[in-house]
Amino acid sequence: MSKKVRVGVLGSGKGSNMVALAKACEAGTLNAEIALVVSDVEEAGILERAESFGIANQYLVPGPFKTKLDEVCEQAYIEAFQKAEVDWIVLAGFMRILKGQFLKAYSNRVINIHPSLLPSFPGLEAWKQALDYGVKFTGCTVHFVDQGIDTGSIILQETVPVMDDDTPQTLHARIQEAEHRLCPAALELAVRGRLSVQGRHCHRLPDS
Ligand code: GRF
Repeated sequence: MSKKVRVGVLGSGKGSNMVALAKACEAGTLNAEIALVVSDVEEAGILERAESFGIANQYLVPGPFKTKLDEVCEQAYIEAFQKAEVDWIVLAGFMRILKGQFLKAYSNRVINIHPSLLPSFPGLEAWKQALDYGVKFTGCTVHFVDQGIDTGSIILQETVPVMDDDTPQTLHARIQEAEHRLCPAALELAVRGRLSVQGRHCHRLPDS
């Protein structure tokens, strides 16, 4: 088996997508290992869940801003992943925007999971936006991260039906089930070099 690609995960929440990735690594359906999990929230469930899988994890101070990392802190995040020899980064519920430095250090190697069918409903609480709008289908998207908010080229998407009696909680739970399939599948394509990106268009290369 070829050498495992080292993946870093950034998250601010409970970490169910990180768990899905860790399970896929253990099952061998994802030829990668999670080398480090970093959170900007000291008490985030993602750190505890990483610990229970024996995955290195740490809280790193994000700085004074609510929606981004300050410059010095961003550098510390980069260095933590570089020290752990991480090749790819997954944003799994990371609630801050990553700007220049981080994206330069991991150019075209940062992917994000978003709980809607982009470009519909970018930003916060996308499942609630979908419910409020009255769509019949929503879903989830795994995409490359660029300078915008949920705007990078799309790797994979999965649709999820919206039921008449859905609440924000039931709809988010159904979307998350799909995320837990989609995120490992997209990362597997990425780490095996099976993606070709030209501008907005990301194509799956045929298996050799
Ligand atoms: C997911 O719904 C993801 O799409 C969004 O944040 C949530 C993170 O959930 N970006 P978890 O922490 O992986 O459970």
